[in-house]
Amino acid sequence: RSKTYSSAQQFYSKGRIYPHGVTASYGEMCYHDNSLVSASLEALIQHLVPTVDYYPDRSYVFTFLLSSRLFLHPYELMTRVCHLCVEQQRSGDALLDKIRFREVAPKLVQLLTEWTETFPYDFRDERMMRCLKDMTHHVARGDEYSWRAMQQMTQRLIKRLSALGQYEEAVAALNTVAMERPASLKSKQASGQRSDVMSVCEDAFILAQQLTHIELLFIGYSIIIRQNFIDNLEAYINWFNRLSYLVATEICMPVKKKHRARIIEFFIDVAQECFNIGNFNSLMAIITGMNMSPVSRLKKTWSKVNTDKFEILEHQMDPSSNFSNYRTALRGATQRSETAHSSQEKIVIPFFSLLIKDIYFLNEGCASRLPNGHINFEKLWELAKQVSEFLVWRQVICPFDRDRRVLQYLVTTPVFSEDELHLASYESEGPENNMEKDSRRSLR
Ligand SMILES: *[C@@H]1O[C@H](CO)[C@@H](O)[C@H](O)[C@H]1NC(C)=O
Repeated sequence: RSKTYSSAQQFYSKGRIYPHGVTASYGEMCYHDNSLVSASLEALIQHLVPTVDYYPDRSYVFTFLLSSRLFLHPYELMTRVCHLCVEQQRSGDALLDKIRFREVAPKLVQLLTEWTETFPYDFRDERMMRCLKDMTHHVARGDEYSWRAMQQMTQRLIKRLSALGQYEEAVAALNTVAMERPASLKSKQASGQRSDVMSVCEDAFILAQQLTHIELLFIGYSIIIRQNFIDNLEAYINWFNRLSYLVATEICMPVKKKHRARIIEFFIDVAQECFNIGNFNSLMAIITGMNMSPVSRLKKTWSKVNTDKFEILEHQMDPSSNFSNYRTALRGATQRSETAHSSQEKIVIPFFSLLIKDIYFLNEGCASRLPNGHINFEKLWELAKQVSEFLVWRQVICPFDRDRRVLQYLVTTPVFSEDELHLASYESEGPENNMEKDSRRSLR
């Protein structure tokens, strides 16, 4: 599977557009320097259909399977591709048809295999499964070998779909636990029974490793390519928010200033470790937590902290110039990942909300069709590039040991709500001006 993506990536990295290149048009397909720039939907569908002596380019298969859903339902595409593949072998002579279909069958199986492995969620649709079954019957009349390949592919697909289903249940259960915030944490006094993060884990590197476990779990499944490209985002976004609130809660909770300062320093170390690992999403969540106003207003506490390291990290994640510092760091991590020898070096966890925003604006900000009705394939290449990179990142297996106690704490320990955070913050360091006094009064 990884081969599909990496070959797609090599293709993209070559760069496709030259300023004064050659433009050519073949029927319904327009090329610029040998790269497809636009075509009619019909021609694009035909371009996906294998024949006895043709199989579509891998990067094309990936790009079109990914983005054709902007124009037609995957089920419709699959029916048409299978139909065309069978029909174009017909000559009127039954025996000849059979021989010719036997030659094309392995290629059709290959195409369907790429489809089921790259976009398994498409096959949650019953009609897709039925079409797959029909093709299996059809192939069975041709040759034994392809029929077996179809059966194996279907079994792998069913396994993968059931794993996705189990994952969804696990995430739903996890969200339920996180939502049932015990009433005990309503105030700072009552939080006495709650243990703090450093009593569960004193080692910043280990904590960053456990955060990475959680991120990779979400990243592995929460991006699901569907009608609107990406789905199941909510669970992952909830996790980001939870981590920010957890960081803020841990800092606002301790009664003693010295203790709060120590927690801030600890989270700076955790953020640094996340950066080193390539876990930018947890890094950003931690920075967000530290910048929430109940935390940032604790001036006396911050005065006890050496913030040099934190300022460097904040600079890395600075939103100005369209996150240019972060994008550079992400490219660095991506390069490291591409030449990695260990699975630890392979880890790249992007700042997820930004990734989604980029894809969203690419999709919204650029027309899918040209005035002549052709599909703007340059846009589809670009979408595929962003998504394929992500698909490579999510294949990483987390190399770190799991620490169940720490994981449990991170995912389930109660956190303050926004109002509770403000109150806890005022208890730590009293209001400094009338505005803060008013704010505290209204919260009480
Ligand atoms: C920010 O950068 C990304 C990636 O280079 C790009 O796709 C996006 O259009 C940029 N956004 C703005 C507002 O410039």
